[in-house]
Amino acid sequence: MSSADIYREIILDYYRNPRNFGKIQNPDIAQKDSNPLCGDELEMHINIKDNKVADVKFTGKGCAISQASASMLTELIMGKDFEYVKKLTKEDIFDNLGLHDLGPARIKCALLSLKVLKYGLYSYLSEKLKDSMSADKIKEEASGLY
Ligand code: FES
Repeated sequence: MSSADIYREIILDYYRNPRNFGKIQNPDIAQKDSNPLCGDELEMHINIKDNKVADVKFTGKGCAISQASASMLTELIMGKDFEYVKKLTKEDIFDNLGLHDLGPARIKCALLSLKVLKYGLYSYLSEKLKDSMSADKIKEEASGLY
């Protein structure tokens, strides 16, 4: 089995058995967005404690890449602090998926969850923590994701 096959299997497994799928009651962050090309939506709920991700869940529908990417992202950020989440890049997502040669349409599928996460963090930083400098930087980064 080639490494591409292994990654494909992993993506399908995350698609069929998504980790952290669901909603959180009264989350600190609730953010959703859609892929402009296909209209598929993704929503992420996050609870914050001591500036760390205490819990995260997602719901949505979409292709295997978008759902696997979201599920992997929730695992990646669980328990992590803001600094870690702020520094996540699209390359981290591609590494997670084992996909580095995606076409423009598929890039939007892969990065939808990161975009939702960054916008959610942006809202939290600006509204709850009144940290507009950090928030603006994150917003700028999120809008430049694709
Ligand atoms: Fe809709 Fe991938 S085709 S998110």
